[in-house]
Amino acid sequence: MKDEFKKILDSVRAIVDSDKSRSEKLASICRLLYDSIPHYDWVGFYLADSEHQQLILGPFIGEPTEHVKISFGSGICGQAAEKLCTFVVPDVTAESNYLACSPKVKSEIVVPVMKEGKIVAELDIDSYTLDAFKSDDKELLEQICRWVAELF
Ligand code: SME
Repeated sequence: MKDEFKKILDSVRAIVDSDKSRSEKLASICRLLYDSIPHYDWVGFYLADSEHQQLILGPFIGEPTEHVKISFGSGICGQAAEKLCTFVVPDVTAESNYLACSPKVKSEIVVPVMKEGKIVAELDIDSYTLDAFKSDDKELLEQICRWVAELF
């Protein structure tokens, strides 16, 4: 993993270990990722409501989105919640099951936060760059989500 991403992981670990509330920690992680990585243009967490099979928008940085509640199975976020695995979409226009937030968004990654085999949240990142998310982004974000799981 590149040094820049290792430094980001150190900062995320410090945020997770801090005395803030869970919501403040999630907001700080969004801010850190948004400010540190130029191709991350919208960074947010959705919280899973498994009883109602839906995702509820939590802390985020970027343009406001109309997608504040997403049913499991709907869009990239909903598919990740159903399949319980990371979704990398290099070109959102090629996806039929996609919920558009802004015409500027070209690619997206969604990483589930898993706790004891169940989904508790998701980290969703949009980019205005086509094919922005590579294997090192996936590795970085999956490690962050393993640590975020400790907050649930
Ligand atoms: N594009 C997502 C919706 C959420 S926004 O990206 C913030 C999707 O298809 O699930």
